[in-house]
Amino acid sequence: MFKDKILELKKTGDFVILAHNYQIPEIQDVADFKGDSLELCRISQDVDAKYIIFCGVNFMAETAAILKPDKTVLIPDDTSKCPLAAMLPAERIKEARKKYPEAAVVVYVNTLAEAKAEADITCTSANPVKVVNSLEEETILFGPDKNLAWYTQKHTDKKIIPLPEFGHCRVHEFMITKEDILKMKKEHPDASVLAHPECTPEVQEIADYICSTSQMIKKAIDDEEFIIGTEKEMCYRLKKEFPEKEFYCIEKAVCTNMKKHTLPKLYNVMKKKDKVVKVDPDIAKRARKAIERMMELG
Ligand code: 13P
Ligand code: SF4
Repeated sequence: MFKDKILELKKTGDFVILAHNYQIPEIQDVADFKGDSLELCRISQDVDAKYIIFCGVNFMAETAAILKPDKTVLIPDDTSKCPLAAMLPAERIKEARKKYPEAAVVVYVNTLAEAKAEADITCTSANPVKVVNSLEEETILFGPDKNLAWYTQKHTDKKIIPLPEFGHCRVHEFMITKEDILKMKKEHPDASVLAHPECTPEVQEIADYICSTSQMIKKAIDDEEFIIGTEKEMCYRLKKEFPEKEFYCIEKAVCTNMKKHTLPKLYNVMKKKDKVVKVDPDIAKRARKAIERMMELG
């Protein structure tokens, strides 16, 4: 019923619905665009509709609001926040800059706007090595995810300093273990293992490929069977794209914040146009510079 009402409202042409790959199936099914953080950043830049409805955690919606200050960005549930993003307050970056004045600061898009405003450039899980290698500086303060920092260090000669040392996503750190993957490999010996770079080094080391969520879709062209080391809803997205292939996800790997958006909440926000995502204009201006610098890399 809510699905029909949402589809009816969409006919006005006022809305574009963006959904991250971890959204519940019902939300993915009504979205205009689905993608990873980088893809959704790019799409939000080209949006024509009056309202961008962002079904993802709030740093993603903030990024859309930063890139499109003339549009109204709405979020169905404004308590949908990424705990990883909260691990790097802007103050911590300022302190680290004093300690390492020669270093550049690269922040993952999974950060609050205030942290992006203090950074030289942002990166996503799809491009950290490219971003780091594009910089002149040889020392890089990199945060907040320590596992993404580990992955980046493995693929660059620059010195990567994780900021903070403990930053992690609880889904990828604790709900996707080496043991889980080994057990699945026993059950599905022909499957390739695709793991997100937020997974621990032990998981990354036994994976066949390390990919952002959208890179997983590209990689899925190559084989027939896959073990997916990321949030479990990724399998819904993959199965939709490749109905003839097999994808095995870890059912306990659930990001509860991503799951806060539901069809009734989506319909409500389209009707009421409340829950507007706002970013302080000065912070937005500085954060935009860091995001656009990344996007210029292509
Ligand atoms: P992606 O950009 O790969 O979709 O990752 C975002 C995220 O939050 C992973 O947990
Ligand atoms: Fe944040 Fe982890 Fe959820 Fe991604 S899966 S939004 S990093 S808590």
